[in-house]
Amino acid sequence: MKIKSAKFHLSAADIRACPAWAWREFAFVGRSNVGKSSMINMLAGKASLAKVSAEPGKTQLINFFVMNEAWSLVDLPGYGYAKVTKHQKFDFSLLIKGYLEQRENLACVFVLIDSRLPPQRIDLDFVQWLESCGVAFVLVFTKADKLAAAKVQTNIDLFQQQVCQWRTEAPEVIVSSSKSGSGRIAILKTIERVLLP
Ligand code: GTP
Ligand code: MG
Repeated sequence: MKIKSAKFHLSAADIRACPAWAWREFAFVGRSNVGKSSMINMLAGKASLAKVSAEPGKTQLINFFVMNEAWSLVDLPGYGYAKVTKHQKFDFSLLIKGYLEQRENLACVFVLIDSRLPPQRIDLDFVQWLESCGVAFVLVFTKADKLAAAKVQTNIDLFQQQVCQWRTEAPEVIVSSSKSGSGRIAILKTIERVLLP
């Protein structure tokens, strides 16, 4: 699929502030700093569409982007960032949960996982919770440019083994790097497949 246009639409601080459109939405979720905003920029082919930062906790609202005037990419705040105050942390997780549980036009969630790390409890718990909500998701292992391919694969295999303890089928996996652009075609193909009638 070609991306012909990509535009920021709005930032929402709660579920009621989300756009009233019926366009299908593809959301990017994962730990703070895993590379959600960078991935949206990589997919859009625009370096500064979504705000990126080396400091975790940059994205704190739900940001909606309109793609090809026909569907939407959604940049969510990260989870698991210890430095935000307790109160903020609670609000952010409620914001993420509220969106994922209640958004009717949510078509698919890309769960971003840092490919450099062995399975992290918080990611495993999040994926299990997402499955319990009945939301379709794909795992995207990010920052693959930073590690040898064999090591990335080891971390993916370990993650899948954990997920297969409670799920009959291993989830779909995409390996990505926003730096090199790898994974872009696979993610856009997944979106295209979901959008097809
Ligand atoms: P929050 O909004 O804080 O939750 O973070 P985020 O998940 O949106 O991460 P963001 O895209 O802001 O990226 C965090 C840092 O990782 C930035 O310094 C990026 O430049 C870097 N980064 C993101 N993706 C990649 C990647 O594929 N490769 C490399 N080498 N660095 C990356
Ligand atoms: Mg971000």
